[in-house]
Amino acid sequence: MSDVKRDDEAATIPAQSTDGGHADGDVLLKVTGLQKHFPIKKGLLQRQVGAVHAVDGIDFEVRAGETLGVVGESGCGKSTMGRLITRLLEPTAGKIEFEGKDITHLGVAGMRPLRRDVQMIFQDPYSSLNPRHTIGTIVGAPFKLQGVEPEGGVKKEVQRLLSVVGLNPEHYNRYPHEFSGGQRQRIGIARALALNPKLVVADEPVSALDVSIQAQVVNLLDDLQQELGLTYVIIAHDLSVVRHVSDRIAVMYLGKIVELADRDLLYKTPMHPYTKALMSAVPIPDPRRKAEKSERILLKGDVPSPIAPPSGCRFHTRCWKATEICRTTEPPLLELRPGQRVACHHPENFEDQQPQDTVLLTAAKEAGELVPDGVLAESAETSAAVAAEVAPHKPSVATEAAPAADTTAEPAVDAEPVAKADPAAAPAPAAEPDPAVEAEAPAAPEAPAQEK
Ligand SMILES: Nc1ncnc2c1ncn2[C@@H]1O[C@H](COP(=O)(O)OP(=O)(O)O)[C@@H](O)[C@H]1O
Ligand code: SF4
Ligand SMILES: [Mg+2]
Repeated sequence: MSDVKRDDEAATIPAQSTDGGHADGDVLLKVTGLQKHFPIKKGLLQRQVGAVHAVDGIDFEVRAGETLGVVGESGCGKSTMGRLITRLLEPTAGKIEFEGKDITHLGVAGMRPLRRDVQMIFQDPYSSLNPRHTIGTIVGAPFKLQGVEPEGGVKKEVQRLLSVVGLNPEHYNRYPHEFSGGQRQRIGIARALALNPKLVVADEPVSALDVSIQAQVVNLLDDLQQELGLTYVIIAHDLSVVRHVSDRIAVMYLGKIVELADRDLLYKTPMHPYTKALMSAVPIPDPRRKAEKSERILLKGDVPSPIAPPSGCRFHTRCWKATEICRTTEPPLLELRPGQRVACHHPENFEDQQPQDTVLLTAAKEAGELVPDGVLAESAETSAAVAAEVAPHKPSVATEAAPAADTTAEPAVDAEPVAKADPAAAPAPAAEPDPAVEAEAPAAPEAPAQEK
């Protein structure tokens, strides 16, 4: 990459490390209160009658050298978020800062340098490559667009890029249809890397690929990060893809980030009920652990429409712990433990698991029927252990929402809403809908086609 000429390099490249441990990396991208509402228009006069709340006020930052995984069910706003931070979409509200510079509303000219620094890899390697162009033209296009002349010429640089992503440089003159899905995604990656970007946003980079190929492409991204000191935002619809490559993971639900935590914390002690449900849906490949499959949390119902998101906590219509406060008051995203931010009134794996209001909502009682005993028992155990561990530095914020209780091992006060189902009869078969399945809001307009 170093032989691509960059006049601004010395001045703007932030300290990036390539050692894989990036916890202390500088903040490369900072997003505050980011919102994207797509207007819904009707009638001859095209009056606005509503809006799709695709991204509805999110805050996060991406540190140099890290991989931030973003997960959530289909339709929760992940792609919209990706397009906002790469400025392919204009935000409705909020602020995006890149290397400390406000880029929220930059025009075409102002965005030019940023177009080099921030690149996107798209989900569909079939539609994202122009079938009429050769691989050489496709991978070399960014040089043309930016007016950059690499040392040794475009052809040589493109061939180098092809070998970097594991393709034969001799295939420079071939067309996309001559390649498999995995190879096409490598071409997309080569194109994204052409201008030596600082941030790469990959929107479901392997979702369209065969499972057997997915790991190869994910590993390639990982290797490239080590070699080139890249910073990634990797979007996926379930946790299995981002699990191994992410340093931190943001979980989205209906346009909001509900949990943002260091990878290990998120896996060991998820605090948001939705995270827990998503996690229990991740397939367990190890046959020795197959029995654990029966402890799946199956969320009832579809994701509500982003046109009229539920009041209070948006997850309350599907949460088995929902109480009155969940229906009326939106829980803010708070750092309940160092490295773990959660938006929930009754977080899991916390010293207080007790709903503030002992009356669970009807929806919660119904959702509770789907939670196998084993999960709750395990949750109670970890909670008790965590309670003992975190008690000395208990944040006051959490206790406001849910007063401390001495019954830390009880996930719910009232035994009744929690199903006492026989674990063997737990709704576990793979055929059951799981939380990660497509659940597009029926009334919501279609997402736009992939950009070129
Ligand atoms: N250009 C658009 N116009 C109107 N609605 C859109 C547009 N793009 C996305 N949406 C809607 O915004 C919501 C979030 O979409 P998206 O960001 O694609 O979700 P995800 O990537 O998580 O599946 C969906 O309800 C989707 O239908
Ligand atoms: S317990 Fe309440 S605040 Fe927490 S996720 Fe469930 S509904 Fe939302
Ligand atoms: Mg998407």
